[in-house]
Amino acid sequence: MTITSVVGLQWGDEAKGKIVDLLTDEHQVVVRYQGGNNAGHTVKFDGKTYKLSLLPTGVLRPGVTAIIGNGVVVNPEALQKEIDTLRAQGVDISTNLLLSDRAHVILPYHVAEDGASERSYKKDAIGTTGRGIGFCYRDKAGRSQAVRVGDLYHPASLEQRLDGIVKSKNHVLSALDPEFQPFASSDIFALTQKYATALKPYVTDTVAWLHRAIKEKRNILFEGAQGSLLDVDHGTYPYVTSSNSSSAGIHPGSGVPERLIDEMIGVVKAYTTRVGGGPFPTELDNEIGQHIRDVGHEYGTVTGRPRRCGWFDAVAAGHGAKICGVDCISLMLLDVLSQLDELKICEAYEIGGERTTDFPAHVEDLANAKPIYRTIPGWKTDICGVTRLADLPAGARKYIDTIGELMEKPVKIVSVGPDRAQTILG
Ligand code: IMP
Repeated sequence: MTITSVVGLQWGDEAKGKIVDLLTDEHQVVVRYQGGNNAGHTVKFDGKTYKLSLLPTGVLRPGVTAIIGNGVVVNPEALQKEIDTLRAQGVDISTNLLLSDRAHVILPYHVAEDGASERSYKKDAIGTTGRGIGFCYRDKAGRSQAVRVGDLYHPASLEQRLDGIVKSKNHVLSALDPEFQPFASSDIFALTQKYATALKPYVTDTVAWLHRAIKEKRNILFEGAQGSLLDVDHGTYPYVTSSNSSSAGIHPGSGVPERLIDEMIGVVKAYTTRVGGGPFPTELDNEIGQHIRDVGHEYGTVTGRPRRCGWFDAVAAGHGAKICGVDCISLMLLDVLSQLDELKICEAYEIGGERTTDFPAHVEDLANAKPIYRTIPGWKTDICGVTRLADLPAGARKYIDTIGELMEKPVKIVSVGPDRAQTILG
């Protein structure tokens, strides 16, 4: 039995989907444990391109059981849409998807709260994906207004609770937005019953299911969404998502203890990107940043927003690696940097005149951090067809070695293009 975890070490969008897809061959179960339809990954499989958001990547393979764990927040409309889109593309997931009865449900008022709250904060907004993720997690922590998947199948108590919940939501939303049209609790209740029917084939106790799978020695793969720097505890708070998007989310979000994980793979891009607000010390608000954006197609899968681009930041990614306890690094999109004359890697910050390799806890300190760079000459050669580390140009090898040295972890996978074949195993 092998239990593997794939987790992003930056601000998300590290191309984890490709690594998860590659590893799925060796695993029978793939688990998502946090986040919701704020995530987005594009997977190329059997010559077709699939865009997934809430569904785990493994769902594309018929023999693999894909689990949406208890730590995920589920928008049933979005889930249904993804299932329907896949069906139209010829992928039927009715027999291989399982949804936790403990997962929390995103309802229309969560999306309304996210939008109204972001608008009211104007320039201080978090820059969320607007999917209601944070407000569903807020209700989860608050408990009295939360709706879990299992509640959908207890209609009498749910109907009664929704009455109070919707009243309170309407009250808050009207205060935030004078044009807000109140929700009717009967409409929300009717929606929950529609969801109950649609989700029924997938709903189960995934915690018990996973522990049976462990007993049966099945290979399990944990698929992180977003990245460690967006983790609500360890990321660039408050410019983070609302879940533990580092590996810290695995145990609470699935019921599987982290000590059972055999290999933790940390995924990084060869540069850095970020969507939404918050400090970004190595950001390149210039033509090099635009070049990386264009060559790397750095536009959000979920919202289409242009991603902010910058040099590789080994302090930030190194923080992610420490928090997650990764065994090795998978370095993605190295080919995107092939045309640059020279490259920079941030090895430390200068904050208030002091050099540090510690990632600051406070956003204002991070905003004042001046990156200290190492410069590496560019390789100016197309590397998309290279299949062995030894065949990469010297500059590219130096770049990889420097990242490994600064992050104090071996770089075991290097990706030089979107195709499965464009993957170098070190
Ligand atoms: P939320 O998760 O929609 O609440 O957004 C909070 C922050 O996380 C914003 O900066 C988003 O842009 C960011 N975020 C959420 N999901 C992703 C993702 O999958 N990739 C990159 N950034 C994300």
